[in-house]
Parts: sequence; structure tokens; C-alpha cells
Amino acid sequence: MNILITGASSGIGKRLAIDYLKTGHVVYCCGRDLRALNQIKERFPNLAIILNFDVCSLDSCAESFTSLKPLDLVILNAGTCEYIDARSFDAALYSRVMRVNVEGTANCLQFLIPQIKEGGSLALMGSSSSFLPLPKAEAYGASKAAIYYLAQTLRISLKPAKICVSYIAPGFVETPLTDRNDFPMPMRVDVYYASAQIQKGLEKGNWLIHFPKNFTWLLKAIGVLPARLQHFLIAKALA
Ligand SMILES: NC(=O)c1ccc[n+]([C@@H]2O[C@H](COP(=O)([O-])OP(=O)(O)OC[C@H]3O[C@@H](n4cnc5c(N)ncnc54)[C@H](OP(=O)(O)O)[C@@H]3O)[C@@H](O)[C@H]2O)c1
Repeated sequence: MNILITGASSGIGKRLAIDYLKTGHVVYCCGRDLRALNQIKERFPNLAIILNFDVCSLDSCAESFTSLKPLDLVILNAGTCEYIDARSFDAALYSRVMRVNVEGTANCLQFLIPQIKEGGSLALMGSSSSFLPLPKAEAYGASKAAIYYLAQTLRISLKPAKICVSYIAPGFVETPLTDRNDFPMPMRVDVYYASAQIQKGLEKGNWLIHFPKNFTWLLKAIGVLPARLQHFLIAKALA
């Protein structure tokens, strides 16, 4: 297969890239950290293709995506996380998170959707935080809720083009992104587990790929409760 993964220089995206390369697929590995991307290229010189750019720049996306082979699978995984202190709301922080997670995804979609083969797949990296309103995640959770909506609509609108769209909603995964967190992260899994779950879900063409299930089902269950009860339980759990 020809696969393109954004955010392939670190964490979940890097593990996915390496796992697909190990099984003989051609992988376009995207990111800003050229040193990290080159390390992947050194291990898989014949299969890894490095695309070094910032997803926030539409011009860089246009330039980077000019000479791709037709794609079987696109995983738009690049993302960032910063937390908000609601009492001193930081609009610049909010904008930074939205810019990478939402606009960065849209920038990639503009050039990549036309390059996905009929029968191919597109996966958008969301988060299980999109299932519930979680304090401190006012920016991050909202960005992933936007991706959830985007993925749902694309799942419907790209069906006639025979492109299968999936939404990936992990719980906590051990990566540089979560290593920065200073709060308990229940049921945190490693990138090997995350990569295996994502690959399995994509192979089956699943709409929603969420894991670890004991954590994500709990969030989903709370998510269907009446808002007042939901908010009460969340406030209690985080107190
Ligand atoms: N870890 C978790 O618990 C968890 C849970 C749910 C969802 N997720 C999502 O999974 C995705 C990957 O996160 P991770 O945990 O693997 O974090 P990570 O190790 O920090 O990786 C983030 C990746 O995104 C890329 N990236 C960030 N900003 C970019 C930009 N402006 N342009 C291009 N690439 C950019 C980074 O590449 P460069 O630095 O090279 O640009 C890096 O490869 C994110 O979308 C995150 O929201 C993570």
C-alpha cells in the first residue's frame, strides 16, 4: 500500500509509520522534525519517503503534496495539546491548538482527498476527550470535537467516491505529548498497543476506532447521561 501519515516524527504517528514500513508498505512520513524523520528514512531507505513541512501552512502543504503516488491510506494524526486555565482564559493558546489540530487537518485534506484511490481510506486523529466536556481541555477537546464532526460528515460525503473515513479516539497513550501532563492518566497504554488497535480498526474499515475499551466505554457511557448528571460526575471525579 501507499500510506501517508502526518505527525510521523514522534509518538503514535511514528509507531504507526514504523509498523507499516516493517510490513513492506511505502509510507510518506510527514512532520517538522527533520532529524527524527531522517532516522526513520535511515532504517527503511527504500520504503520511507520524508515530507518535511508544517501543517499550518497551506502553501507548504501544497508544495509537499505535489508528487505523491495515488494513496491507499491517509492518517491525519499531527496534533498538539495545551490546557486552558478557564479563569485566565488564553485566547492565543486556544488559537494555537485550533490552528494545528483543526486548520492543519483541513490544509492537508484540501490536497490529499483528491489523491486517495477509489477503495482507499482516510483516518482523522481525534481523542476520547471529544466524548465529554473535560475542564482544562476547553481548547484541545473542542479541537477534537471539531475533528469528530468533520470525520462524521466526510464519512457520509466521501462514501460515493468509495473512500472509507474513520475517526480515531484514543484514551491516554504514552508519548512526548502526554509525558508533559502533570495529572493522573488512568489506563494509559503504550504506542505499540495504540498502533496495533489503529491498524486493526482501519483494516476492518471501522468508523470509530477507540481504545483502551474499558476507559473509552466509560467515557462514552457518561456521555449519554443527561447533561446535569454528566457535569456533576465530571466535576466530582476531577475534584
Ligand atoms: N498521546 C495521547 O494520549 C493521545 C490521546 C488522544 C489523541 N492523541 C492525538 O494523537 C496525535 C499524535 O499525538 P502523540 O501523542 O503521538 O504526540 P507527539 O508525540 O507530540 O506527536 C505529535 C506529532 O504531530 C506533529 N505535529 C505537531 N504540530 C505540527 C505541525 N504544526 N505541523 C506538522 N506536524 C506537526 C509532530 O511533528 P513535528 O514536531 O515533527 O512537527 C509529531 O510528529 C495528536 O493528534 C494527538 O492529539 C494523543
